[in-house]
Amino acid sequence: MKHTRIVVAHYGGPDALQVLEEECPEPKPGEVRVRVLAAGVALPDVLAREGVHPETPPVPFTPGWDLVGVADRLGAGVSGIEPGQIVAAMPISGAYAEFVCLPQLELVPVPSGLDPAEAVSLVLNYVTAYQMMHRSAKVGSGQRALIHGAAGGVGTALLQLGRLAGLRMYGTCSSRGASVVSGLGGIPIDYRHPDFVEEIHRLTGDGVDVVFDPIGGSHLWDSRKALRPGGKVVGYGLSTSLRGEGLTSSRPGRRQRFRGTAVFALYIAGGWLLPGRKRVIPYSIQTLKRLKPALFRQDLIALLDLLQQQKIKPLIAQRFPLAEARRAHELLGKGGVTGKIVLVCNGASPEPAAP
Ligand SMILES: NC(=O)c1ccc[n+]([C@@H]2O[C@H](COP(=O)([O-])OP(=O)(O)OC[C@H]3O[C@@H](n4cnc5c(N)ncnc54)[C@H](OP(=O)(O)O)[C@@H]3O)[C@@H](O)[C@H]2O)c1
Repeated sequence: MKHTRIVVAHYGGPDALQVLEEECPEPKPGEVRVRVLAAGVALPDVLAREGVHPETPPVPFTPGWDLVGVADRLGAGVSGIEPGQIVAAMPISGAYAEFVCLPQLELVPVPSGLDPAEAVSLVLNYVTAYQMMHRSAKVGSGQRALIHGAAGGVGTALLQLGRLAGLRMYGTCSSRGASVVSGLGGIPIDYRHPDFVEEIHRLTGDGVDVVFDPIGGSHLWDSRKALRPGGKVVGYGLSTSLRGEGLTSSRPGRRQRFRGTAVFALYIAGGWLLPGRKRVIPYSIQTLKRLKPALFRQDLIALLDLLQQQKIKPLIAQRFPLAEARRAHELLGKGGVTGKIVLVCNGASPEPAAP
């Protein structure tokens, strides 16, 4: 049986994504073949396509951090899972395919009846948001939070989970995202505003308890200035280091590490050494999952439960058929996307379910 898989043939712009037709993979012992219904499209996929994300595999590779699908065929020795069970996984690469074989241990059961596109939005974005909020920052009700990139995939997840946690929230975004941020309970601050630190102090007096910062570089230090004493910056991305390195460029063959990593380490050390009890804490979903896989599983199950109870509602920016992965990357690369872009296949509807 043939299936479709998307391949990054060389590092570069969206045209590096190619559609491949090939034989379906067979599960090895301990593996389950998953028939993919939805695969998330995220900035880390774009960065891997460019060859600049720390998790970038060697070319050729299939991108795709996260997926939701149906257990389709069991490898030898697999038990405790039935064909037909809906599952979620975060393989980091490989999800842009109709069929993927994964170790059974990687699979998390998904309650039936959920929209696969909404469920897949939880895997990378909401687990990131949930773990930063409850495991790194350990927020408490009534605290103030500044969320950078608040209209984006992780940002909107932080806003929804922050509202459930009883936070008072401020969110930097472009003017296009302001209504989304206020609709989710945050006070929007235009990130092109010359000084968000000043704006935060004007709005709050002594600053916020926590800042979630995906921008990195010197931006982390500005975020620290927005804290009240005892506050924390959770740094989880280094987007700044990448601007100017040619996002959506077509220069082939580059494979660069974030230059901002060393700067990050300096800010973490500075947070401990300088007065004011203001700390900078790094967060990485893949590092935590590798060190403590049980926490990833536990947190994803908790989020799937919140989705089933309709306490959270991921924003789906757009659904594309799998073969249109290139268009999905072009859209994400342009910016201004609110919520999650999802690739759908194997009969999952490209239209949202009726409310
Ligand atoms: N450490 C981890 O475990 C982890 C996990 C997941 C994601 N990440 C990282 O988190 C970052 C965000 O991912 P995402 O999927 O949420 O991306 P996304 O959906 O593209 O959202 C990014 C948002 O940031 C906004 N933005 C751009 N420049 C900004 C600035 N200077 N200040 C404030 N907001 C700005 C963008 O607005 P406009 O488009 O309107 O300009 C966009 O809404 C990426 O760097 C990703 O690699 C890290």
